[in-house]
Amino acid sequence: MFSKEVYQRRRQTLLGKMRAQGQQGLILFIGNAEAPAQYKDNCYKWRQDSSWLYFFGLDEPLMAAILDIEAGSETLFADDVDIDDIIWMGPQPSVRSKADAAGVAHTAPYGGLGSAVALAVKSGRPVHFLPPSRYFNTLKLGQLLPGAKPSEALIKAVVSMRLIKEDIEIEALDHACDLGIAMHSVARDAIVPGIIEQDIVGKMEGVALAKGWGVSFPTILTQHGETLHNHLHDKVIEPGKLMVIDAGVESNEHYASDFTRTYPTTGKFTQKQREIYQIVYECNELAFSLCKPGITYREVHLATARKMLEGLAALDLVRGDLDQMVAEGIAGLFQPHGLGHNMGLDVHDMEDLGENLVGYDPDQTRARQLGLGSLRMARRLCPGHVITDEPGIYFIPALIEKFKKEGLGKDFVNYAKLESYYDFGGIRLEDDVLITADGARRLGHGRLPIAPDGVEAAMAK
Ligand code: GLY
Ligand code: MN
Repeated sequence: MFSKEVYQRRRQTLLGKMRAQGQQGLILFIGNAEAPAQYKDNCYKWRQDSSWLYFFGLDEPLMAAILDIEAGSETLFADDVDIDDIIWMGPQPSVRSKADAAGVAHTAPYGGLGSAVALAVKSGRPVHFLPPSRYFNTLKLGQLLPGAKPSEALIKAVVSMRLIKEDIEIEALDHACDLGIAMHSVARDAIVPGIIEQDIVGKMEGVALAKGWGVSFPTILTQHGETLHNHLHDKVIEPGKLMVIDAGVESNEHYASDFTRTYPTTGKFTQKQREIYQIVYECNELAFSLCKPGITYREVHLATARKMLEGLAALDLVRGDLDQMVAEGIAGLFQPHGLGHNMGLDVHDMEDLGENLVGYDPDQTRARQLGLGSLRMARRLCPGHVITDEPGIYFIPALIEKFKKEGLGKDFVNYAKLESYYDFGGIRLEDDVLITADGARRLGHGRLPIAPDGVEAAMAK
C-alpha cells in the first residue's frame, strides 16, 4: 500500500468534493468479504474492492469505514483476530495498527457499523454509499439501509478522482504494463502448431502469478477471435490460423494492464490476413496519434471507424461514401465494440460505479448504434486519463447473416465478397495509453511488436 498520507489526502479531497456539491451526512465504504466458491472455507481468490483500496489501501476482508462530511471525522470498522483466527492464519496486526497505516483516527468493531448507520438514519442524516459490486455488500447494504439507492453525488466525486491518475498510480500502471508485456512475450514465443491453447495460457498466466497478483481479467487466447470474449482454451493450435491473445496482469499493488496482440500461428501472415491486420494496425496507430487533451474519445473512436472503412473499401468489402458509412454505423458490423475503456485499479476501471457516469461527460449521451453504443469511454480526454486503444476487425458469420437478412447496410456492404471471410476469425490490437499534458504515451517500458513485419520478426526468433 502507499503511505498513509496518500489515503488521508484522498479522503480529504473526497470530503471537500462532497461539501462543494452541498452534500451532508455520512459516507459509508464497505470493503469486500471472502466469497465462498464451494463451502465457507474454500473461497475464491481474495480481491479487495477497488474504491476501498483507493481510499484506504487495506487489503483485507471484512472492513468498513464511515466518513462524516460535516465533522470530517473518520472511523474504521474492523475486528481484531481471536485465538481461533491465530491458529489458522497466524498472528495478525491489530486493527489499530491497520488504521494507522491508512491514517484513520478512530476504530470500532465491525459489528458497530449497524448502530452507527442507524443513528445517522434516525437523525435524518443522509448516508452516501457506492454501488456494491459483490453480493455480500449488496446484502449488507440491504440490511443497513433497506431500500436505499447509491449516491450519485458520491459516485461523481469518486469517479472524478479515480479517473485522473496520480503520479504514484502512473508508476504502478507502468509496472503492471511491464508485467503485461513480459506475459505476452512468453505467450508469443510459445505459439506452435500442434499444442493445445491451454498450454500457452498456463505459461503466460504463470508470469502474472510469479510477478504480480495474477491476471487482471480472464485470459482470452483463441483461434476464434471473432468471438470477442472467448475464454475457452481447449483447441489444438492449427497452422495458418490467427490467434488473438487479450490478457493482462494485475500487479501486487492491484493496478491492471490489458494488451491484445494477434499472431499468425505459423509465424507468417497470409496475404489475406496481412491485409486485414494492416487496417487494424493503422487504426491502433491513428487512435494513439489523435490522443491528446481536448479531443473526446468518441471522436477518436469515430476517426478509427472511418479509417477502418477506408481500408475495407480498398479491399472492396464495403463501397460508398466514408462519412455516410460512419454515420450509418457500418463499422459496427466489423467492430461491434468500442475503441477502448478506462483502466486503473480495475481493468475496466470503475465500471461497477456505472458505465455512463464513468465513461461519459455530462453533455454526452451514449449512442445506440452497434459498436459506438458499446464505447465505454467517450469522454473529453484530460491529462491523467488512462485508456485502452483496442480496435479490431472481426468476421462474425451470424452477425453478417443477420445484417444481410434484415437488409442492413445493403447499400454499402459487399455481402458476396464477405462470404469468403467467414472462416477468417478476428484481429484485435490493444495498447494502454496515458494522456499527458500535451499528448499521450503508451504505458510500460517498450512496446510489444505490433507492425506486421515486427510481429513476424519476433515470431521468427
Ligand atoms: N481486455 C478485455 C476487455 O477489454 O474487455
Ligand atoms: Mn481492453
